[in-house]
Amino acid sequence: MKRDIFSLKGKVALVTGGNQGIGKVVAGYLADAGAHIVIFDLNDASAVAEAIAKEYGVQAAALVVDVTDPQAVEEAIQKAAGIMGTLDLLFNNAGICLHKPALEVSPQEWLKVIDVNLNGIYYVATAFARYLVAHGKTGNVVNTASMSGTIVNIPQGQASYNASKAAVAHLSKSLAVEWAPLGIRVNSISPGYIRTEMTGTVRKDWQDYWVSTIPFRRMGTPEELAGAVIYLLSDASTYTSGHDMIIDGCFTVV
Ligand SMILES: NC(=O)c1ccc[n+]([C@@H]2O[C@H](COP(=O)([O-])OP(=O)(O)OC[C@H]3O[C@@H](n4cnc5c(N)ncnc54)[C@H](O)[C@@H]3O)[C@@H](O)[C@H]2O)c1
Repeated sequence: MKRDIFSLKGKVALVTGGNQGIGKVVAGYLADAGAHIVIFDLNDASAVAEAIAKEYGVQAAALVVDVTDPQAVEEAIQKAAGIMGTLDLLFNNAGICLHKPALEVSPQEWLKVIDVNLNGIYYVATAFARYLVAHGKTGNVVNTASMSGTIVNIPQGQASYNASKAAVAHLSKSLAVEWAPLGIRVNSISPGYIRTEMTGTVRKDWQDYWVSTIPFRRMGTPEELAGAVIYLLSDASTYTSGHDMIIDGCFTVV
C-alpha cells in the first residue's frame, strides 16, 4: 500500500454504546487502528476504556451519558473534547430492541425505542457536528442502523425497532448531503443478526430459526463489523458519504 489509508492514528473516536456488544468490540479495533477512544454509555464503561488503553497504548476514557437527553449529550461532547483534547470520529452505535407484537406495544414502549435508536443518534451526531464546526474541523460519522431497516424480521414482532432503523439509514443520508459542504461525512452500517448481549438472550427457538434462514447459516460476530467501520471512518473512503453498508451474511440478498 502506498500509504496506510486505513490508519486512524492520532484521531479521537467517540463510540456510543461502547460498554458491551458491537460498540465495545469495534472500539478495540478502532484503537488497534491508532485512534484514541472515548465511550458514551448508559452504564459506566471505565473498565472497557482502561482495558483498551492498556492493550493498545492509546488514550481512552468513558462517560456515563444517556443519548436520549440532548442537554446531557451536548455537555458530554464538550467534556469529552476537554478530556481527549479534540474529537474527530464518531461511531454512533447505542441502541435497544423490543420484541413485542405491535398490537401489544404501549405508546411509552414505542417512544422509548424511537427515543434511543433515532433521537439518540440524531442528538449525538448533531452535537458532534456542532463541535466540529465550532472548532473549524472536518470529521466523520458512522451510525449503526440495521438490516431491519430494509427487511422485516420474523418470527418476532419488532415494528418499533424496524421503523427506527429505517429512519437511521435515511437520517444518515440526509445529514451526509447537508454536511457535505462542511467536510463531514456520514455513513451507516446495517448489521444482520450479530451475536451480542442483545441477541444472545433471545429465546433459543427464535435464534435457531434466524440461523436457518441466513445463507451463511450462522450469526455474525461484532469483529466482522469492525473492518467496515474502520473503512468508513478512515481515509480509505474519502469519496463515500450517505452510504448504508449492509453486513448480513447474505440475509437481505435472498
Ligand atoms: N446485535 C445485533 O444483531 C444487531 C443487528 C443490527 C443492528 N444492531 C445495532 O447495533 C447496536 C449495538 O447493538 P448490540 O447488539 O451491541 O447491543 P447491546 O445491547 O449488546 O449493547 C448496546 C449498548 O448501548 C448502550 N445503551 C443503550 N441505551 C443507551 C442510552 N440511552 N444511552 C447510552 N447508551 C445506551 C447499552 O448500555 C449497551 O452498552 C444497536 O444500535 C443495535 O440496534 C445490532
